[in-house]
Amino acid sequence: MEQYVIKGGHPLVGEVDISGAKNAALAILAAGIMTDETVTIDNVPDVNDIHVLLEAISEIGARVSRPDRHTVKINARSISNLRVDYDYIKKIRASYYLLGALLGKYKKAEVALPGGCNIGSRPIDQHLKGFRALGAKVDIIGGKIVAEAKRLVGCHIYFDGISVGATINVILAACMAEGQTVLENVAKEPHVVDVANFLNSMGANIKGAGTDRIRINGVRALHGSNYSVIPDQIEAGTFMFAAAATKGDVTVRNVIPKHLEATILKLKEIGCEIDEQDLDVRVVSKGNLTNTHIKTMPHPGFPTDLQPLIGVTLSLCKGVSVITEGVFENRFKYLDELARMGANIRVEGNIATIEGVRELSGARVSALDLRAGAALCVAALATDDITVIDDIEFVKRGYERFDEKLKSLGAIIEKVSSERELQKFKLKVG
Ligand code: UD1
Repeated sequence: MEQYVIKGGHPLVGEVDISGAKNAALAILAAGIMTDETVTIDNVPDVNDIHVLLEAISEIGARVSRPDRHTVKINARSISNLRVDYDYIKKIRASYYLLGALLGKYKKAEVALPGGCNIGSRPIDQHLKGFRALGAKVDIIGGKIVAEAKRLVGCHIYFDGISVGATINVILAACMAEGQTVLENVAKEPHVVDVANFLNSMGANIKGAGTDRIRINGVRALHGSNYSVIPDQIEAGTFMFAAAATKGDVTVRNVIPKHLEATILKLKEIGCEIDEQDLDVRVVSKGNLTNTHIKTMPHPGFPTDLQPLIGVTLSLCKGVSVITEGVFENRFKYLDELARMGANIRVEGNIATIEGVRELSGARVSALDLRAGAALCVAALATDDITVIDDIEFVKRGYERFDEKLKSLGAIIEKVSSERELQKFKLKVG
């Protein structure tokens, strides 16, 4: 098993190019099977979750090619199988988008219940509520969701909670339904808007994405399209908090600053200097950062995916900070690992109280999940010690060349896969 080994103590300095948004790309690639014509998607991040989804898409019979590292072409005319194999699907959460896409196009789909990071119970009742409201019969049989409809007919759906996945999935199922579908209390994340824009570029008629209400007028068929995925606001935020925690000076390039508003405001609040340009944001931290309080919420609130990153940063800020996790109930597990690095933390339910310490120390820690893994790398960079991070498969699921990008900013980090390599690194860095 691979590990990251990090020798901290060097402020991150420089510029880093941000990849395409993983969570937008996953939904867009699934949507790409909804036409028999070819779709060409650009700015797709080269990360493991994407590889798994593309494998599943080609497994059901679509033709998938990658003319270059960040471009994917899909032609789904040859899809022959509406059953998505469990082995692929259990690995990633976004596999559920194949349910909406297949149901929307073929009126039938059979997909194993999704896996993904263990950050809470993650039910999919709102997805199923939406499919049923459109007229599908949906059953859970032997760990699989089996959905089928004679016709899908537009209707008015009110979501009982705000869900990114359910919003996108029901859009997929509704865009070729008969008549108009209105979705209320929807997620407003930038990737919801990106998926709607992509579907509209394929001939769908979706209005209101990015607001609380989305109106979809069903069309008979979708056509091919060329589309570029938006930049990853979570990857950008990760490097921005890494700059803050290491007292660095980092410019994230190829971003949409508007998508980073909550992150930028929180970084300013704790004392970072921010310079915002059209497509770049520079974060300068001179140390002496101070505490703040945050509550994670659906967009435009502070994103739950960046909660571990701000958590690590606040563990080094002067004063007492309070984090309330408002989206997933199980997203504080990384704090136990951070405490082993010397952070001063108390967790009660969904509230973490963090008293800033002057410094963290190295330890052997586990990545636990995607964002927790990235956050622990940032913690490691902020120590003066060597830290070993296990289970980095989680990080590789969603961050493209994470170690290389950190290295380009001056970090000392290696991927190692044996005790011998680990010792070699330790000897090298002293
Ligand atoms: C997506 C992202 C994930 C991000 C999350 C919130 C992908 C692949 N993953 O996850 O990185 O952290 O959005 O921004 O895009 N819920 C229900 N019933 C449902 C659906 C959700 O109760 O049918 C609850 C969830 O348990 C959670 C909350 O709603 O408490 C938000 O979940 P949701 O927005 O659906 O997250 P995902 O789409 O799974």
